Amino acid sequence: MISIAIDGPAGAGKSTIAKEISKILGFVYVDTGALYRAIGLYIERHNIEDREIKKELSKVKIDLDFKKDGQHVLLCGEDVSKLIRTPKISMIASRISAFKCVRDFLLKLQRDFAENNNVVMDGRDIGTVVLPDAEIKIFLTASAAIRAERRYNELRAKNIYCSYDEVLNDIIKRDNDDSSREIAPLKPARSAIIIDTSNMSLQESIKFLLKVVKSKFDRGSDLYESK
Ligand code: DC
Repeated sequence: MISIAIDGPAGAGKSTIAKEISKILGFVYVDTGALYRAIGLYIERHNIEDREIKKELSKVKIDLDFKKDGQHVLLCGEDVSKLIRTPKISMIASRISAFKCVRDFLLKLQRDFAENNNVVMDGRDIGTVVLPDAEIKIFLTASAAIRAERRYNELRAKNIYCSYDEVLNDIIKRDNDDSSREIAPLKPARSAIIIDTSNMSLQESIKFLLKVVKSKFDRGSDLYESK
């Protein structure tokens, strides 16, 4: 199986770009942030205190369902794909993603997907921890202001309303938390190709990434044959 790992901070365009690339390559797109968000939602709903998380995880069942419109996240059988997209759940997900028990809990799930499918997997530690042997590792980034603007527009398009400042502050705090945590911090893998999309449109970013992928696989021949 072939794995493409795309890591980077919140709002760098990872999910949109990874989704498009996976469609073109015929790979499964796995958004690992959604898994942390689903646990965040569970914790919020059940008012679970930090010291109880490890024990409570034994009751949590997370599945991914891949439909025509993309990945759906099932939390104990319930499709929570939309409910996990609020700023509140973003903050909880970021906070609890620093816990070893949470990361361990999700590690196997992520590796299982990559073992059984050709994947484009996006997250924070895919190239460094989850899939250290991924054939291609990309670290996608952009300035905080640009990322906040993109995320703000994305949320509005989904009819989720909050202020731009709220989104920007959320991004700055999450950048800081995600990269300063002790376990699996956000950082480029040693062999990652770092791409700054601040001055690129979405289409330009997709084109650029595809070029990188193709050149890595001898102009794409291996990849396209393995679909
Ligand atoms: O990509 P996202 O914004 O949906 O991710 C939500 C949070 O989950 C993010 O703040 C950090 C955490 N996360 C992580 O620690 N490791 C991953 N592989 C993916 C997400």
